[in-house]
Amino acid sequence: MHAAYIENLDKFVFRGPAMARGMPDFTGKLSADDVEKIKAFIQGTADSIRSKATTEASQ
Ligand code: HEM
Repeated sequence: MHAAYIENLDKFVFRGPAMARGMPDFTGKLSADDVEKIKAFIQGTADSIRSKATTEASQ
């Protein structure tokens, strides 16, 4: 997944292009602060998986 998806996550969860493909609109359900927390969660998970994969690859 391209990093721009995470940078622009608010544009996907609030009336995003995926609505046409069945994704619900989170307007009024999630706050801007919630989206920042989701970004941090995704980034943190990706970082932890990536460092583990790098460690395994170097062994
Ligand atoms: C906070 C929660 C969520 C986030 C951050 C999120 C994020 C995204 C993103 C970034 C995309 C890609 C947009 C694109 O390719 O144009 C996407 C696509 C999609 N999402 Fe979500 N999503 C969330 C929750 C959900 C939920 C709860 C559902 C369904 C109940 C859902 C259904 C879909 C569908 C059907 C697509 C289109 C997939 C496709 O084109 O193949 N999403 N979502």
